[in-house]
Amino acid sequence: MKKAALITGGAARIGKALVLALVERGYDIALHCRNSERQAVRLAGAVKRAGRECGVFCCDLSDPAAVSELIPAVAGRFPHCRLLVNNASVFERGTLRDLSPSDWRRIMAVNLDAPVFLTRSFAAAFRSGHVVNLCDAKAAANFTSHFAYTMSKKALLDFTAMSAAALGPAVRVNAVAPGLILPSMEFKTRDLVRLSAGLPLGRKGAVSDVVSAVLFLEDNPYVTGQVIFADGGMHLL
Ligand SMILES: NC(=O)c1ccc[n+]([C@@H]2O[C@H](COP(=O)([O-])OP(=O)(O)OC[C@H]3O[C@@H](n4cnc5c(N)ncnc54)[C@H](OP(=O)(O)O)[C@@H]3O)[C@@H](O)[C@H]2O)c1
Repeated sequence: MKKAALITGGAARIGKALVLALVERGYDIALHCRNSERQAVRLAGAVKRAGRECGVFCCDLSDPAAVSELIPAVAGRFPHCRLLVNNASVFERGTLRDLSPSDWRRIMAVNLDAPVFLTRSFAAAFRSGHVVNLCDAKAAANFTSHFAYTMSKKALLDFTAMSAAALGPAVRVNAVAPGLILPSMEFKTRDLVRLSAGLPLGRKGAVSDVVSAVLFLEDNPYVTGQVIFADGGMHLL
C-alpha cells in the first residue's frame, strides 16, 4: 500500500536524514521547509530520482494561519499521508531574566503550538496514522540557559503523552528526544565531543541514532505515548 510522510523542517540536518530513510522504505514525501527552499527542491529531486513522489511545502510555522493551511495542502496532494514528523524547531539561548514576551511567543509557536495544531489537523484529515515529535533530552532536566526552548520541549513531551491518550486507537503519537547530535551556531562539534565525554555512553550521538529511533516507533503498531531518548544516557544525569 502506498504511504506518504510529512516531515517539517525536512530540508537539512536531521530532517533531511529522516526524509532519505523514509524514501528508502518506500514513502512518498511531503517536505516542509521555511528558508531552505533551495535545499528542499534539491532534496525533492533526489527523492524523485529514487522513484518516490515528493512535494515541497514552504511556510513559517510561527504563523498560526500558515500552520492551519499546511495539512489541507498536504492532504490535497498526498491523501495517503500516514506519518507526521514534527521536526522543525528553533533552538535559542536565553534565560528567564532576559526573556521577552515576543521571543517566548515565537519559540513556543514553532516548537509547541505548531506540533499541537498539526497533530490535530493530521488526525482530522487522515483519520489514522502516526505522529512523531522531535523533543530533546535536555527537557528531562532544567536547562535554564535556554529557558523558552527547554520549556517548549518539556511541554512537547507532555503533549506527546496526552495526545496519544486522546487520539487512539486511530492515531499513535510518540516522541524521540535526541541528545548531543549535531553542532549548532552555539555548540561546535568539539563542544559536543567534550560535553559527551561525561555521558553514561561516553560519546556524542549520530544522526542515524535519531533516525533509527523514529523508524523503530513507526514499525511498532502497539507503541503509543512513548519517548525514546536517543541521547547516550544524557537524560539520566
Ligand atoms: N541537532 C541536535 O543535536 C538536536 C539535539 C536535541 C534535539 N534536537 C531536535 O531534533 C530536531 C531536529 O534537529 P536539527 O538540529 O536538525 O534542527 P534545526 O536544524 O535546528 O531545525 C530544523 C528546521 O526547523 C525549521 N524551522 C525553524 N524555524 C521555523 C519556522 N519558524 N517555521 C518553519 N520551520 C522552521 C528550519 O527550516 P528552514 O531551514 O527551511 O528554515 C530548520 O531547518 C529538532 O526538533 C531539535 O529540537 C536536535
